[in-house]
Amino acid sequence: MPALVLLGAQWGDEGKGKATDLLGGSVDYVVRYQGGNNAGHTVVVGDQKYALHLLPSGILSPGCTPVIGNGVVVDPSVLLSELSGLNERGVDTSKLLLSGNAHIITPYNVTVDKVTERFLGKRKIGTTGRGIGPTYADKINRVGIRVQDLYDESILTQKVEAALDVKNQVLTKLYNRRAIAVEQVVEELLAYADKLAPYVSDTVLVLNQALEDDKVVLFEGGQGTLLDIDHGTYPFVTSSNPTAGGACTGAGVGPTKISRVIGILKAYTTRVGAGPFPTELFDEDGEALRRIGGERGVTTGRDRRCGWFDAVIARYATRVNGLTDFFLTKLDVLTGWEQIPVCVAYEIDGKRVEELPYSQTDFHHAKPVYEMLPGWNEDISKAKTFGDLPKNAQAYVKALEEMSGAPISAIGVGPGRNETIEINSFI
Ligand code: GDP
Ligand code: IMO
Ligand code: MG
Repeated sequence: MPALVLLGAQWGDEGKGKATDLLGGSVDYVVRYQGGNNAGHTVVVGDQKYALHLLPSGILSPGCTPVIGNGVVVDPSVLLSELSGLNERGVDTSKLLLSGNAHIITPYNVTVDKVTERFLGKRKIGTTGRGIGPTYADKINRVGIRVQDLYDESILTQKVEAALDVKNQVLTKLYNRRAIAVEQVVEELLAYADKLAPYVSDTVLVLNQALEDDKVVLFEGGQGTLLDIDHGTYPFVTSSNPTAGGACTGAGVGPTKISRVIGILKAYTTRVGAGPFPTELFDEDGEALRRIGGERGVTTGRDRRCGWFDAVIARYATRVNGLTDFFLTKLDVLTGWEQIPVCVAYEIDGKRVEELPYSQTDFHHAKPVYEMLPGWNEDISKAKTFGDLPKNAQAYVKALEEMSGAPISAIGVGPGRNETIEINSFI
């Protein structure tokens, strides 16, 4: 019963979409277990480029059943337009399964996300504005709307009433906005019911039966370890658990079923939105990483903040996720530097610190301690085996592996499905 989790080991955008797509041909199910359309996963197949936000990247592999698990928050309009966009490009999406227990991002959740950020001003998180935080807040406050509620108008109306009771007070009295009418929301949500009906299912049962039948299930994380609500750089995080444990709660599969946890790790570091980032660069190196790496958000189009590789973070990701492997991406982007700095520890208030501090104050004060590794100039985008890489690139990978605490089992040398060096097989 091979169940694999594939997740971001940094602040998101590590190349999870590409890695998932690469494995898509060898797995039976690909499951999103948290997050929503705050994610933007890019998959390049031949000359075709796909940007997936809510659908698991396995949707592009014909033999694979894509699943949206109970832990995901679903904006129905986004889901339907993503499906029709893929259909127009000839992708069959009919196998999709959508958990009836997944929570719905309602229009008022999106409104609350935007007005809250505006209200926070300088202290804003820099969310994607997709209603993610407010929807998870409603879930935890037990006033959320679930996919299954679309099929009982009376329950749906009562729940929307309960949710809007307080929100309308806040919207009108605190934010000076107009109140949102219950009927209008209910009408909009009901209009999605028939369109979503073919996909809605008991995904927990389906996935556990699949595992019993020795099918291969891949759980695809959104965001990344340092954006985790419990283990990330709180409060500059998303509102779910991208870390490995999230796959269990977000899909209803026991931890004993998970056999492998793959951390997707960029050969340098990026971050979108606010929050601490010790290796962030504000010079031409940062600009060069952004330009060569194409570091612009798939969801919001914002420039990504760029910096050197941070081994402290990678070690932390290994620990909190129980990583068995790394998939190192975008090594090709580092071609051309004479020397490449790698952060091996932090200096915090004059002391050398080897592990990620739990204290937010300390992390804000963390300064990177760099080790310089020799760079390479050869084009590596055609490399098929580890041995094809120039010696210095091999040494860079080996050094990262040593510092990060888990074997690097694959290396990305370009955005395409085949631009990958496979070292150890994942399945
Ligand atoms: P995700 O959110 O983790 O799926 O990552 P994104 O899709 O947001 O960002 C990763 C970007 O890097 C995408 O544009 C990918 O096509 C691209 N990419 C992934 N792996 C590689 C790689 O090994 N080399 C290069 N040059 N680009 C890559
Ligand atoms: P993928 O799956 C990078 C960031 C936002 C913001 C914070 C909270 O493509 O790696 P939210 O809208 O989730 O409440 O925003 O999290 N963020 C991401 N950053 N990649 C993502 O997804 C992200 N999803 C959310 O920029 O800082
Ligand atoms: Mg992304």
